[in-house]
Amino acid sequence: MSEPWSPDSWRRCEAAQQPEYPDPQALSQVLDQVAQLPPLVTSWEIERLKGLLAGAARGEQFLLQGGDCCERFEDCTSDAIVSKLKVLLQMALILIHGGGRQVIRLGRFAGQYAKPRSSPCEDRDGLVLPAYRGDLINGPEFTPRERIPDPQRLLTGYDKAALTLNFIRALGSGGFADLHRPHQWDLAFASHSHLADEYHGTVSQILRSIQFVEAIIGGPIAELNQAEFYASHEALLLCYEQAQTRRVPRRSGWYNVGTHLPWIGERTRALTGAHVEYFRGLANPIGVKVGPSCGAEELVDLVERLDPHGEPGRLMLVHRLGAGRIGAALPPLVEAMARRGRQVLWCCDPMHGNTEVTDNGFKTRRFDRILHELDQAFTIHRELGSRLGGVHLELTGDDVTECLGGARGLASGDLTRAYRSQVDPRLNYEQALETALLIAERIGR
Ligand code: PEP
Ligand code: CO
Repeated sequence: MSEPWSPDSWRRCEAAQQPEYPDPQALSQVLDQVAQLPPLVTSWEIERLKGLLAGAARGEQFLLQGGDCCERFEDCTSDAIVSKLKVLLQMALILIHGGGRQVIRLGRFAGQYAKPRSSPCEDRDGLVLPAYRGDLINGPEFTPRERIPDPQRLLTGYDKAALTLNFIRALGSGGFADLHRPHQWDLAFASHSHLADEYHGTVSQILRSIQFVEAIIGGPIAELNQAEFYASHEALLLCYEQAQTRRVPRRSGWYNVGTHLPWIGERTRALTGAHVEYFRGLANPIGVKVGPSCGAEELVDLVERLDPHGEPGRLMLVHRLGAGRIGAALPPLVEAMARRGRQVLWCCDPMHGNTEVTDNGFKTRRFDRILHELDQAFTIHRELGSRLGGVHLELTGDDVTECLGGARGLASGDLTRAYRSQVDPRLNYEQALETALLIAERIGR
């Protein structure tokens, strides 16, 4: 029997990856303020996403989850948000066209501000300071002022998330996402890419199909000017997440109204840990990252704990095993779920198992390893009678040079040109489109 759950019952358990605030009283005042602020998302949006994810588990939709590893407060700008949406819209279009399935667009945005770190401190020439844990907690600059956790950042994070979501909602429901005008999603710097040509070929075909259908029905298809986006982030900082966990009128259960889909990271998914305790009581759909150290029994226990009733759309398992390990590590996990008669949504994160450091000191990922892991994921699920229902990618619409390879064959020397990530390397625009083309081909088969 489980102990009763409440939004703060996680405090009974060991909480990994939490910062130490020097002034607990200042923290608690800020948390009280956060708890009074209006929700960022609503329970009906959350329930709608859950329904879509249930569809993805059945193979009716496909989930595209993507965005920055670590969202920065300074990136809460018109240009940065627009370019994130553009690349997700373009990728979704490629997937719908090639895969013949509705696509769920789930951003790693509007709250992806807190990061787990392998070490709590950083030592530079004898000066030891807390590690940078994301803008929600502290700043990246190596000074005591920046690195000491500051509760005021929680209010700033809440505001930035609200501003980001507000703009995303406005763009998604206005003319910006209009499928009659997908050319406006082009990103200028990529106009010379051969992938852009391939993309424009797809767009022309889609436009002709739309014209054809609208000619038959004698008018415009209104739904084509809308695009739904959902928000997700790693719900790492539990006191902040708790402050946004509410009851809502006319529904039972507790909702995290700070995002549609919170997920548990690989470093915080301990069965008896505070994150699993917090997540088990939420009504939201949730994700769990599953790395190579997770055995089949451990996964079964996690699933029983987080989704005891097997609610459709409730639980998404995001495997991030690495191109070299997925072949051995994934089949036992898939088989264990099948033996239990569980239909969970399987999603592949081909990024976090393929991180390496170059000779010149950059944290990077090889594009061919990323594609190779994805490709194997599709094959393994199919061969076992399971289904890959989504992908989880770290990407940006910007012209960064963080991952090696891809259409332009980026080499380690190129990483110095535009390496902007504070944490993990992201696919750039061309690499993202190329990935979408591969996925579309695999789901279309
Ligand atoms: C992430 O998604 O940025 C991350 C830290 O992933 P994981 O928990 O899978 O390592
Ligand atoms: Co990351």
